[in-house]
Amino acid sequence: MTIRIDELVDDRRVVICCGTGGVGKTTTAAVLALEGARRGRKACVVTIDPARRLADALGIERLTNDPTEIDPKLWADIGAEVVPGGRLSAMMLDTKSTFDLLVTRNASSPEQARRILENTFYRNVSGALGGTQEYMAMEKLHELHDEGDFDLIVVDTPPTRHALDFLDAPQRLTRLLDNRVFRLLMMPTRAYLRVASVAVQTFLRTVARVVGSEVIEDVVAFFRAFEGMEEGFRMRAQVVGDLLADPDTAFVLVSSPRRDAMQDATFFAQRLAEAGQSVQALIVNRVHPSFGDEAPAGLRAAAEALRDSPEDARPREPAHRLAALYDNLADFREIATLEREHIEALRARIGPDTALAYVPYLAHDVHDFATLHEVGEFLFDKVPAR
Ligand SMILES: Nc1ncnc2c1ncn2[C@@H]1O[C@H](COP(=O)(O)OP(=O)(O)OP(=O)(O)O)[C@@H](O)[C@H]1O
Ligand SMILES: [Mg+2]
Repeated sequence: MTIRIDELVDDRRVVICCGTGGVGKTTTAAVLALEGARRGRKACVVTIDPARRLADALGIERLTNDPTEIDPKLWADIGAEVVPGGRLSAMMLDTKSTFDLLVTRNASSPEQARRILENTFYRNVSGALGGTQEYMAMEKLHELHDEGDFDLIVVDTPPTRHALDFLDAPQRLTRLLDNRVFRLLMMPTRAYLRVASVAVQTFLRTVARVVGSEVIEDVVAFFRAFEGMEEGFRMRAQVVGDLLADPDTAFVLVSSPRRDAMQDATFFAQRLAEAGQSVQALIVNRVHPSFGDEAPAGLRAAAEALRDSPEDARPREPAHRLAALYDNLADFREIATLEREHIEALRARIGPDTALAYVPYLAHDVHDFATLHEVGEFLFDKVPAR
């Protein structure tokens, strides 16, 4: 039976919004959490780089990395009825502090944590390492889930083309620590040069010449500082993997109707399937409105009739302009119909049970409670119209 998006915000504990860059993931995540809260749940949305005005509306103008509860007064402002107990919190992911906390928690001593946190290489790369943002989003999810303050956590994902890296991001750090080069680097500084193969030595010398030998020392010190923490990371990766695979976790795929976005969406769904996850909902954002329901053929006939009408029956100029408008409307309707056909085909590829919702291209940005609620009206069955 087809899943309803309502079920996701009513019953699931974790909802992950993924999709290619710029399609509306952050917006969708906020809409889902907002509606969950309105229905009485303790909801939290973890956003990644939200648009300035959306962050302001959610009260997260500061990068705090901790959930901030939204003023319940905002509900009254938009005239929404909130089921008692419902509350909404929001936070903006701060990759660096999440990583710091992870290090602090996993270190065997405060001294080890300090060595890592103060390492220059760590300070420079902890926010920028490939996949770190994805990994830290999952880390934050795990932390919030563990603390148990929320019964619905909606997670936004970063705008990378490889956005699904979060699926194996936890394993990636483990792999890094398992890596041969890493193990070589873990050896006492002089010893590694003795045992390292000629190729590795040459490589390291070349790197040292380019980036400076202090950098190499920092990197070596960085890896050595992690000594003994591999096991903790590995277990962490396992726990996050289990949380993603939990039946209480849902994946929502956001796409635009554009061809490239739909291709990416297909790829995402495949990757999720390979990872043993399925997509519960496909939300297609910024679709062309359908502009009524008259078929394009009828509209084109009307345009023809106007152009053919005898001169004495209608003034020529306005009749031609009106005919052009009919043609225009027929074009739009053809685009809208084609879009829907392509989207239906995508849904069929993902799985016939996947919920499907369309959000039209709105004339304004979605950056406050009222407009988030407006988008919600396209996603849920039971959103009371304002
Ligand atoms: N249906 C819509 N109609 C009009 N504007 C929209 C719609 N959906 C989203 N927007 C606007 O488009 C912009 C991008 O949306 P959003 O930030 O949610 O995308 P994203 O997928 O999170 O982007 P990124 O991949 O960069 O993180 C925002 O300014 C948002 O207000
Ligand atoms: Mg975003």
